[in-house]
Amino acid sequence: MFASTIRTIADYPKPGIQFRDITTLLKDRVAFNAMVDALALHYANVRLDKVAAIESRGFIIGAALASKLELGFVPVRKRGKLPAETVMQPYKLEYGEDALEIHVDAVTEGEQLLLVDDLIATGGTAMAAMTLVRRLGGVVEHAAFVVDLPALGGLQQLQSAGVKPFVLCQFD
Ligand code: PRP
Ligand code: ADE
Repeated sequence: MFASTIRTIADYPKPGIQFRDITTLLKDRVAFNAMVDALALHYANVRLDKVAAIESRGFIIGAALASKLELGFVPVRKRGKLPAETVMQPYKLEYGEDALEIHVDAVTEGEQLLLVDDLIATGGTAMAAMTLVRRLGGVVEHAAFVVDLPALGGLQQLQSAGVKPFVLCQFD
C-alpha cells in the first residue's frame, strides 16, 4: 500500500540514483495517517522513552509518531544546526558524506530511544544517529523507516549493531 504512494525520480540528486520521494505519500491524508498508525501500532507495547529522528525528512515521520505514542522528540541534525552543546558523528551517504549532531542534554543515561527516519539505504545515517544516542548513554534497540532499499544493506548493519528494524515498504 505505502510503496504505491511513493514517487520515484530518476537521476536525482546525482546521475544513477533512483530517488524515492515520500512527498507524494505525505500529501495523501489516507496514506499519511495510515503510515503513522502502522508505525504506532508496531510500537504500542514496546517500552520507549523518546523518539530520535533524523533531519530532515525523518523529522516529519518522527514527530508525528512521537506525538501519537505520547513520547518526547529528539532532533538529530546535520552539522552546525543545533544551538547548544553537541556531540558529532561523521557518516557516508549513497550520494555523498556529512555529519550528524545531537544535543548532549537530549538523552538521559539508560533512556530507551526509538530511532526514526523516512528511508534507510546504506545505513550510514542511521548508524551515525544510533552511535550518537549511545554515546550519550541512551539505549537504541529499535529503529523505524518508511522505506528500505535492501540492495544497499542498511538493515543488516543495524541488526549487527543489536538494533531491531521495522520498515513499511521496500524498493529494489
Ligand atoms: C536521506 C534519507 C536518510 C538517508 C539514508 O537523507 O532521508 O536520512 O538519506 O541514507 P543512508 O542509509 O545511505 O545513510 P538525506 O541525507 O538525503 O537528507 P534529507 O532528509 O535532509 O533530504
Ligand atoms: N537517501 C539515500 N538514498 C536515497 C534514495 N535512493 N531515495 C531517497 N532518499 C535516499
